Amino acid sequence: MFFGRDPLGRRSLLIHKPTHLAPYILLASVAARSTSQHRFEELSTTSLYCFDLSISCATSDDMSSRIMELPRTSKTSTYAGPDRLNVTLPPDDLPITSSLDAIPKFMSDITDDFLNTLDECVKLRVQNIPVSPNAKESDARVAVLFSGGIDSTVLTFLAHRHVPVDEPIDLLNVAFENPWKQSKEKNKKDIYLVPDRVTGLQEVEELRRLCPSRKWNFVEINIPYSESQAAVSTIEDLMYPANTVMDLSLSSALYFASRGIGHISVNNENQPYSTPARVLLSGLGSDELLGGYVRHWSSFNLGGGWDVLIKELQLEIDRIPVRNLGRDDRIISAHGKETRHPFLSLDFVNYVARLPVHFKMDPRAEQGTGDKLLLRVAARKLGLMEASMRKKRAMQFGSRSARMKGEREGTATIRD
Ligand SMILES: *[C@@H]1O[C@H](CO)[C@@H](O)[C@H](O)[C@H]1NC(C)=O
Repeated sequence: MFFGRDPLGRRSLLIHKPTHLAPYILLASVAARSTSQHRFEELSTTSLYCFDLSISCATSDDMSSRIMELPRTSKTSTYAGPDRLNVTLPPDDLPITSSLDAIPKFMSDITDDFLNTLDECVKLRVQNIPVSPNAKESDARVAVLFSGGIDSTVLTFLAHRHVPVDEPIDLLNVAFENPWKQSKEKNKKDIYLVPDRVTGLQEVEELRRLCPSRKWNFVEINIPYSESQAAVSTIEDLMYPANTVMDLSLSSALYFASRGIGHISVNNENQPYSTPARVLLSGLGSDELLGGYVRHWSSFNLGGGWDVLIKELQLEIDRIPVRNLGRDDRIISAHGKETRHPFLSLDFVNYVARLPVHFKMDPRAEQGTGDKLLLRVAARKLGLMEASMRKKRAMQFGSRSARMKGEREGTATIRD
């Protein structure tokens, strides 16, 4: 029996390895908690595995030694893993990109290639989605985990090109009630005006202006504190073996966003809405590939220079397989849905890896321009003026759910 995960770890697979008390192998996508019968861990993405079923084993030791590892190498497949980053340094006289108003000349062709590559990756992920048997004609098949930031917005815009125009696209935007927040916001609606809600609402207007023929369902998913508390135990089971406070915060945001139950505004009236879409697009990966984190900017500006920045970006790609995509997959698939990550298509990752660093970001320029420069320039080219200028915030979904835990550290485990 052969088993393994995709090289970037986008889908979950857990393994229980044989122990003296539990002398068997179990493989599962989701595993709830540990018991005396099993103790699961994430299967590593660095190898494929093989287990010989033809020999009977006397002990758990025999069994463990029969799990053979077949390390992934570029010889086993062209899709064995991402390419190494291009280490070409920029010319000494490279001008600083101080504004997005004119596409820097040296980036003009690259911007077109970049958009074509990303467009193809989005297309492959939104075309040919089966219509479910009892679907109504007006049902969306594609939804986007939508914060209104540049990543999710560019994906949404590209998806628009490939989804039939008479079909709505659902934009899922989650906000949590935060009982710790000192607030003058007495109005019930305002407690959900978290930063991602604000940018989401602004951005859907830009999309409506640029793509007026499409019906955009901006789904406001508002989660009262009591509801998020009631779901904690379910979410902890789903995310297991991930088990920190930070895992729980991010998983909660994803759990409620992907469940997709909220309301949409129809003629200025709120109507209950539940997304029928089973395919969810996520903008994950763009910060890692294109230099969107403050640590990238710092690695250059705190005396590192371009070669240190390249090393930092290489580490970023190397870390993708161990970053929590398996956890996210367990959470989302609990609703019978699947996330698709166009930025984490191996074709796209390899395309970006081959580009010299100075096309991707300019750490000498300001935040909001130099970080993810290539994506910003591309967004401009698509006409997404507002999205192209958005700055990164600390948390995905900006739902503040991490900070709701008050003083507890994000890395603390939940059952301590
Ligand atoms: C790195 O970038 C340079 C300049 O664009 C290009 O000539 C070279 O082929 C690239 N190297 C790799 C390994 O892709």
